[in-house]
Amino acid sequence: MRKIMVSLALLVATIAAGYADDYTIAILPKATSPDYWKAVHAGAVKAQRELESSGTHVGLIWKGPSKDGERDAQIKEVEDFVGQHVSGIILAPVDSKALVPPVEDAADVDIPVVVIDSPLETNAIVSLVAPNNYDCGKNAALCLGELLDGKGKVLLLRTMERYANTEARELGFLECLKQRYPDIKVVSSDQRAGPTEESAYTASAKLLDRFGKDLQGVFTPNEASTAGMDRALKDAGLAEGKIKHVGFDSSDQLVNALRVGDIQGLVVQDPFQMGYLSVKTMVQHLTGKGSVPKKIDTSSQLVTSDNLDDPKCKNLIHPPVSQYLN
Ligand code: BDR
Repeated sequence: MRKIMVSLALLVATIAAGYADDYTIAILPKATSPDYWKAVHAGAVKAQRELESSGTHVGLIWKGPSKDGERDAQIKEVEDFVGQHVSGIILAPVDSKALVPPVEDAADVDIPVVVIDSPLETNAIVSLVAPNNYDCGKNAALCLGELLDGKGKVLLLRTMERYANTEARELGFLECLKQRYPDIKVVSSDQRAGPTEESAYTASAKLLDRFGKDLQGVFTPNEASTAGMDRALKDAGLAEGKIKHVGFDSSDQLVNALRVGDIQGLVVQDPFQMGYLSVKTMVQHLTGKGSVPKKIDTSSQLVTSDNLDDPKCKNLIHPPVSQYLN
């Protein structure tokens, strides 16, 4: 009886919105404040508009905590949307293990889940839309190794525990350094940036205070850790290439730092395309039109001051967010 009442309420709400959606899809990012997630959202809206123009009405519900790491909140969001019987859930899991039970509960009641950005330790999903994060970490190591001419001391500032995607980047970075640059010494790789730029700044300042006097390079594997380290290097007078900084993602702050030489390289993903493909993939699954790949690779690109203004890089670092999010 409750299920019928909930479904009716959802139907009434969507009809009141002007038309009954064919599908209602909940999109749950890891966070909403980083620029990265705004690009994911914009890409999802682009897919929604394209589907609308071809006659498929898709309602999108975009919901997430403002900052990273809100594990319990995200678990409750998944549970709530399962209770509301949405058509499908697109999820960027903040914990590769803790989100497994609610996702498997969704699958048990035939609510499909497409995972984006960061893997989840279950097969009960329709597809994973994400880049090869291990290779992204390798590319960061190759960039830093070249910048240091294969020698010197570096550190890795990790992000969050059980963030499967950044853990893959960190592993790819460390293993590639060890294999390709045996004369580069990693002086620290066990400290974490935490969920925000502020927590990353604090962690970075402590590391620079301890190692900064004899350090040639740093790697930071996501937007918040890169922004925090960038600020800490500036405050310590170690920016402007004094310590080579290779980071991840793009934002106005990070791209500006790259342009002025405070950051030497950014591994940039394509979050806009990730959001776009996740909605298209979900709707393809829901309509039963053709099989959906279990893994859909999205691209990444090492951006430096040399290629920053190339068209391909420009599209990645300046996705058309304002065209789709008002
Ligand atoms: C960053 O967090 C990661 O999950 C994304 O891939 C991106 O690197 C965005 O806040």
